[in-house]
Amino acid sequence: MLMEIADTLRTKLDPRKTLNSLRGDADSSNSLTGSGPGYDSGNDPRNDSEPELHKERTDNSDTIKSSRNGKAPLIKLTDVWKIYQMGEVEFAALKGIDLEIYEGEFVVVLGPSGSGKSTLMNLLGCLDVPSQGTVSLNSRDISRMEESELAQIRGQMIGFIFQSFNLIPTLNTLENVTLPLEFQEEEPSRARERAEYLLDVVGLSDKHKNLPSQLSGGQRQRVAIARSLAVDPPVLLADEPTGNLDSKTGDYILEFLDELRRKEGKTIIIVTHDLTPVQYATRVVHIKDGEIEKIEEVEGNYCKL
Ligand SMILES: Nc1ncnc2c1ncn2[C@@H]1O[C@H](COP(=O)(O)OP(=O)(O)O)[C@@H](O)[C@H]1O
Ligand SMILES: [Mg+2]
Repeated sequence: MLMEIADTLRTKLDPRKTLNSLRGDADSSNSLTGSGPGYDSGNDPRNDSEPELHKERTDNSDTIKSSRNGKAPLIKLTDVWKIYQMGEVEFAALKGIDLEIYEGEFVVVLGPSGSGKSTLMNLLGCLDVPSQGTVSLNSRDISRMEESELAQIRGQMIGFIFQSFNLIPTLNTLENVTLPLEFQEEEPSRARERAEYLLDVVGLSDKHKNLPSQLSGGQRQRVAIARSLAVDPPVLLADEPTGNLDSKTGDYILEFLDELRRKEGKTIIIVTHDLTPVQYATRVVHIKDGEIEKIEEVEGNYCKL
């Protein structure tokens, strides 16, 4: 199924320009694409450039919708506060966040730098616990769990795509992708097979032996994505996934995540200051100064803000 998604995307994208940019990667300086139909991007400089990719897409999955359908939320934050202690000074990075995330959603948390996005992502991903309030995953309160239990839940449920990729510099591409499977005590030959398959999916089958430092930015991002999919988690969390990439590579990544949601029912959560991912969102959560300003629901899968 993943390979099918990757193939569809490869042919959907302009083979000459896009694959070059995917292979050669982040060094190519393409103009950024627009930020989606109807989005009032005001003084967004990207308005100048026409979107080069045809974003029309068909939804062949009626079953995977972002509707709640009477289901309990997958992740639920109730009056969540995160207070960082810096010596004598306390800083509230999140101030009373209430947020429910449902299976099969594509949620974009949008806000300026310093608004609390990464802090929120760490809580949504059970990498951190709140100073106050509760975080529950599958209706289980994780706020007061022991780290060992948290780590186990994280390992099975959540794939992370970090802003700085967080690849292990001393491990090559194949080893980086295999690592989460080793943590889950997957049998080594099966782990290797899965890692090879995922690297093939993201178009890096010829880079198994490269260290992260021997890859371009876009290639590193794709290793990070392959790694995030290693244990086939139901939730993918990405912090600024398009931040360090040229627009073509960024589009490929977003399309890929979108297809994973549509075809495999994955729940995608992106935190970003960039408007580009908004067009894929089923909901946009606007965050500012540690508070949710507003939440925009998007009917269907296409953003019509
Ligand atoms: N470990 C920390 N200690 C103290 N302050 C922090 C820490 N992490 C983040 N902050 C502060 O919390 C605020 C939110 O940070 P962050 O969640 O990283 O924002 P964003 O990802 O939206 O840029 C910022 O003002 C930042 O300086
Ligand atoms: Mg951040």
